[in-house]
Amino acid sequence: MENFNTNDYYDDKPLQPMAAGTSRRQFLTQIGLGGIGLAAVPYISRGGENVPVLEAPEMQQVRFTVNGKPQQLILDTRVTLLDALRERLDLTGSKKGCDHGQCGACTVLIDGRRINSCLHLAVMCEGASVTTIEGLATGDELHPVQVAFIKHDAFQCGYCTPGQICSAVGLIKEGHAHSDVEIREAMSGNICRCGAYQHILEAIKDVQKQA
Ligand code: FES
Ligand code: FES
Repeated sequence: MENFNTNDYYDDKPLQPMAAGTSRRQFLTQIGLGGIGLAAVPYISRGGENVPVLEAPEMQQVRFTVNGKPQQLILDTRVTLLDALRERLDLTGSKKGCDHGQCGACTVLIDGRRINSCLHLAVMCEGASVTTIEGLATGDELHPVQVAFIKHDAFQCGYCTPGQICSAVGLIKEGHAHSDVEIREAMSGNICRCGAYQHILEAIKDVQKQA
């Protein structure tokens, strides 16, 4: 196997065979120093630890409608819709259960379609119409799904309920799930740690029947 001259490597030149007479120690030292140089680029030392250098956030304006009200926000492009709703618009009905798309507690409707708002960047909502649990009722009149959840006692602690209701509203609108198995499958992205599943199912079927 041939040895290579690392100086040539860091000059972005093709690797050249290392000159005869270069010792193994010299070679390893060059490799080590080069490695430190490369690794130092994205890190700074703080308190004895290497921490990544964070780039300044990229801010972007987003204009969208939330529960029928036009909103205009300037946001870090990394902010999720869930955080924008809860922390910028004080709409705390949508819950942060896992923040990883696994529990459904953050479900809202975008242009009528249900989505996990913890997985959706707020800046992707430009021009969209977002509906949260706070926007389902009409004045003092609850949405039929809200009424059915109360009637069928479809919650216990209530933490998952805003997401369950938004998901149920989306599901009914989709119109493809009618049997118990289909409804359970279509609602499987919404986890209820209290196990209110049977009552949630009854509530959804009740609304479908009325419709
Ligand atoms: Fe979004 Fe759990 S908080 S899916
Ligand atoms: Fe408690 Fe669903 S009602 S988590």
